[in-house]
Amino acid sequence: MAPSKVRRLLTTVMCVMCVSLLVNVVLWFKGQGRTMAVSVMDEDDETRLRSKEVVLKLADDVGLFSIRPGKEALLTCSLDQDTKDIPSKALSCFSMLAYPVPRTTQLLIAHLESQIATKNYVISFLSQPIRNRFSFTYTNVIQNGCWERNPEVLLVIPSAPENFERRELVRKSERGVYASRPDSNVNLVFFVGRPENNTLLQQRLTIESYVHGDIVQVNFVDVYRNILLKAVSMLHWSLTHCPKARYVLRTDDDVLVDIQKVVQAIRRKRELHENFILGKTDVKFNVVRNKSSKYYVSPKEFDQEVYPPFAFGGLLAYPMSTVSLLYQAALRLKTLWLDDVFITGICAPRVGVPLVDDPDFEFEHPEE
Ligand SMILES: *[C@@H]1O[C@H](CO)[C@@H](O)[C@H](O)[C@H]1NC(C)=O
Ligand SMILES: *[C@@H]1O[C@H](CO)[C@@H](O)[C@H](O)[C@H]1NC(C)=O
Repeated sequence: MAPSKVRRLLTTVMCVMCVSLLVNVVLWFKGQGRTMAVSVMDEDDETRLRSKEVVLKLADDVGLFSIRPGKEALLTCSLDQDTKDIPSKALSCFSMLAYPVPRTTQLLIAHLESQIATKNYVISFLSQPIRNRFSFTYTNVIQNGCWERNPEVLLVIPSAPENFERRELVRKSERGVYASRPDSNVNLVFFVGRPENNTLLQQRLTIESYVHGDIVQVNFVDVYRNILLKAVSMLHWSLTHCPKARYVLRTDDDVLVDIQKVVQAIRRKRELHENFILGKTDVKFNVVRNKSSKYYVSPKEFDQEVYPPFAFGGLLAYPMSTVSLLYQAALRLKTLWLDDVFITGICAPRVGVPLVDDPDFEFEHPEE
């Protein structure tokens, strides 16, 4: 078996194990269990809990429920099913199992059950064979890449090879300057494909990349109809080259954003959801059947007349765990070249990822 196959198999096995443990937790809640004791073995409990890097050991040797493998923290909490409200001390335990933290025992159990249902649905979907074999290769070295510092935010920006000026504007913009500070929690990377057959353009790109060290070039022809390839390669590159970034933030190369406000909005969402896509959503977007339109989609490619709810690709953010889910979904679903509709509208619901928005998560498109 190829290593990737082995990894997939292992992931599936792990997922199944996680779910069976979660099932145990619930059964145990509903059955004889009256208290849920969570003991963890480390001194620095407060910090660990906040970073949610814990291994929970359940009472009665139900088993280890591993949220972030390899880290342990200290916490003991108990939950009495007869009391209506979850004691505040126990709340922090459960915040690792449930987003948002339910206020009562009954709600917590309902929440865990719905999580199990979602996980089962996702696992059965992810057990389906891969239908899209993307094979991306990347050129150009990223200086100051994700290996030296683990950024909180990996800022990925799809860009066309000829957009030299836009990239320069981004570098000089607030987000560019912010990302280039040595103490910054943000890494900025542009993604371009290959110029169609223009060696001069390629030479300029190579020089630009050498000078700035912030360009990843992917091995497909950079034409508008290939934006899905670019979007999927950005998911893939994030997972393979910057997996420790906490969040991926995607912006177009021509939009204006207030990076600090946007990052705060992402952090707020993370308090409520383990996986999510933060963006501006649209719910009744008609499929364009006008063949001269830039957004034309044939009935063969997508046969309904209205797109499912999706979030616009101009500004999107998700945790790294969500990137993984979205990438796995993209491998298994019939593609649609409109990348934002495909990833946020078609892939996301199949892997239980909700679309969320926030008033501070906004962008301006100067050209529209
Ligand atoms: C690429 O080459 C083809 C054929 O020589 C030509 O028609 C096309 O305009 C070229 N494209 C670019 C971007 O130079
Ligand atoms: C189709 O799109 C073109 C280009 O955007 C536009 O000029 C034309 O009016 C559209 N036709 C219809 C029927 O909407």
